[in-house]
Amino acid sequence: MAAASRRPIAPSLLAWAGQHGRHDLPWQKPATPYRVWVSEIMLQQTRVDTVIPYFERFMARFPRLTLLGKAGLEEILVLWSGLGYYARARHLHATARLCLEVHRGLLPATLDELMRLPGIGRSTAGAIMALGHGLRATILDGNAKRVLARYHAVAGPPDTAEIRRRLWSLAERETPREQVAAYTQAIMDLGATLCTRARPSCSSCPLAQNCAARTTGRQAHYPGKRPANAKPCRERWFAWIERDNAVLFEQRPPVGIWGGLLCLPEIPPQMDPGEWCNARLGFAAGKAEELPGFQHEFTHFRLRARIASCHGLAANIGDHIPGRWLGTENADLAALPTPIRRYLKARLAERQSRSTGR
Ligand code: ADE
Repeated sequence: MAAASRRPIAPSLLAWAGQHGRHDLPWQKPATPYRVWVSEIMLQQTRVDTVIPYFERFMARFPRLTLLGKAGLEEILVLWSGLGYYARARHLHATARLCLEVHRGLLPATLDELMRLPGIGRSTAGAIMALGHGLRATILDGNAKRVLARYHAVAGPPDTAEIRRRLWSLAERETPREQVAAYTQAIMDLGATLCTRARPSCSSCPLAQNCAARTTGRQAHYPGKRPANAKPCRERWFAWIERDNAVLFEQRPPVGIWGGLLCLPEIPPQMDPGEWCNARLGFAAGKAEELPGFQHEFTHFRLRARIASCHGLAANIGDHIPGRWLGTENADLAALPTPIRRYLKARLAERQSRSTGR
């Protein structure tokens, strides 16, 4: 059956969602444009269960867009710490400020204006329009892509221009004129709960009868996959510099991985850690000892973090060193990337247990 002649999904989807959809998510009560926007940014690449406590803490501190626009980035990063993909927090901050300056403290209510704001792509703008403003607009997030690719048997990887165009065209066609907010939530809910990537629950699905993938038994073929590429591995050296049970941290530049967060100082490639200490911090570390490191998976690469202990002689480390000293008592309140926080805590705990002989 050609895509155009397949039955529209909205009626069955809406009937199903009335009973089985999610109606108690924190950003639905109330679903203001501001709350929907923050939740949509947090939900990019992140699961609902993970987002909920972050969203609640964020709203407790910044219940209105004006408060967010007036806050400092550091405080936002602290609240974001652990959620990952920190560019999202920087974009949130930049967008809030722009809304204060240009849009009278409100999120705009047109797709074009929303898409001009940092961190808001076409699907996120569609979700804000539909869920926050109640206006007709289309989304195409990962869940909607999977539902539509299966229902209409759209083969091929969805991140190519041609497949993306086809999926957007189907998404626009399926979006109803009425009940757009309920439909938008429903397609995301179906994708998240029944039409899952592995082992979809077709026997409970309201679209099963007309679903091209289901009727041909080819659910696993949609959406198509990109040819598997081994992720590149990037090796980076970080310095471990310790004084009085605290470790030296620096704020990273605003762009790139962990942009704007506090981190163990990164030693530039090809530089010897001892030489780096001398040049950067003004003390001779002697020969740096390598500590156990860690690996961390990013979407597009694997980080192999190697750690050089360069604290040298404690007496050499003066107050002039730029940066922030973190120990067990203040690490939780700082904006740190999760693997770095984990590493810091594990090393400090290990140190503590060694010193108390336990
Ligand atoms: N993922 C993206 N937006 C969502 C929403 N509003 N509810 C649940 N999951 C989502």
